Amino acid sequence: MRRAYIETYGCQMNVADSALMTHVLEDAGFKVTEDVNEASLILLNTCAIRERAEERVTARLQQLGQLKRIRPDLVLGVTGCMPKHLGKELLDRLPKVDLFIGPDSYRHLPSLVEEAALRPTFSLTLGDEDYSDLDPVSIEGIHAFVPIMRGCDRFCTFCVVPLTRGREKSLPLADVVRQVRGAAEHGVRAVTLLGQTVNSYHHDEDRFRDLLSEVSEVEGILRVRFTSPHPVEFEEDVFALMAERPNLCAHIHLPVQSGSTRILESMKRGHSREEFLALVDRIRTHLPDVGLTTDIIVGYPGETDADFEATLSLVREVQFDSAFMFRYSPRSGTYAYRKLRDEEVPDAVSAERLESLIAEQERISLQRYRRWEGRHVEVLVETVSRRNPLNSVGKSDDGKTVILPGTPEPGTMVSVPIARATSHTLIAEGVQEREAAPDPAPVESIEV
Ligand code: 5AD
Ligand code: SF4
Repeated sequence: MRRAYIETYGCQMNVADSALMTHVLEDAGFKVTEDVNEASLILLNTCAIRERAEERVTARLQQLGQLKRIRPDLVLGVTGCMPKHLGKELLDRLPKVDLFIGPDSYRHLPSLVEEAALRPTFSLTLGDEDYSDLDPVSIEGIHAFVPIMRGCDRFCTFCVVPLTRGREKSLPLADVVRQVRGAAEHGVRAVTLLGQTVNSYHHDEDRFRDLLSEVSEVEGILRVRFTSPHPVEFEEDVFALMAERPNLCAHIHLPVQSGSTRILESMKRGHSREEFLALVDRIRTHLPDVGLTTDIIVGYPGETDADFEATLSLVREVQFDSAFMFRYSPRSGTYAYRKLRDEEVPDAVSAERLESLIAEQERISLQRYRRWEGRHVEVLVETVSRRNPLNSVGKSDDGKTVILPGTPEPGTMVSVPIARATSHTLIAEGVQEREAAPDPAPVESIEV
């Protein structure tokens, strides 16, 4: 039997796409293995959001290309956003790679692999795939990622995603509910609904609120989250529903990108600083204990000291629980890359801004996490701790990682008193301080 190995980079959508590829390959008779050394097909499922992501994959592909000296039959492929972004230029850079597949071609993987054994093969067109009958649900333990829409129509000026994943496309509501039901039957208790602008979900008459409502009614599903919404796409009734249904988690990842209205306008985000702050107020009116997290870019072209100060003051005002913070990375093909090159902020300046933003957010996160000290938190237990098998790891309703003592069955809900907090983790009473797991690396936000 042919063995395939898949390595995943980037966002949760890529995790779901790798699951989809796994199912397509298994249906075609492949066995998907965790061991790269026994595979005759190696696929790297990649991200293009920042230059660094592409550099990592390039280095890894060069390394894997060496394997072909000893295993001439090996088929080496690169899938997802990076081949779509760089196109045929990538073959010049990486002559050992046989297969280049964009995010809409996974259905045809088996025949493409056959062709790639004979000659370099490209499948980079977008738009023909409706994802019907493909199983994209990625299950790990009691948690599943469930894509509900793909692509993006917003074209923020810095972002390569509309170019790599194409136009927005939502799945039929009944398909999503069927997938969630299937996952629940396999023991899944928590789902995260995925989309590049997840809250703009619409299919026929069904809107995001309708989908959330039906998913929250699936038997056995104790927690429902979604990522990433766009601030301007929220309809008010979503928050009312979240307040009503205990299994819709009070946790919203709400990318803001900048605290300066001038920069937000240049980014074409569609809202001002004040409108974002008003949205946060409305969310907190419905969901007073909501966990709010965000994405922020520093050093966007034309960002002045005053613009950056506005970002700092916004994070102080909102008090996000945590944030993914990035230096702007120019991406070829985007509006910002084409039109704003002469306004680029020097590297040293953006590096310094990133450092001070991270320091400020760390202080805020610590305060936000410490609010839980001495209180009880409802935790959905996910797994045994990798660091210490006497402890378990779970999540609070508002999205925080919690370390707790003992090994309750994954999928059970427990109430634990919090002894102490770091800026990334809540640690329950009874966890031996010395043995407590260090903070887990934060999962990348959906790298849309
Ligand atoms: N440079 C830096 N960060 C970016 N992001 C998207 N495009 C870029 C870019 N060109 C960030 C945004 C987005 C997150 C997933 O990645 O903050 O919300
Ligand atoms: Fe779309 Fe998000 Fe990228 Fe903006 S940042 S273009 S909303 S994927």
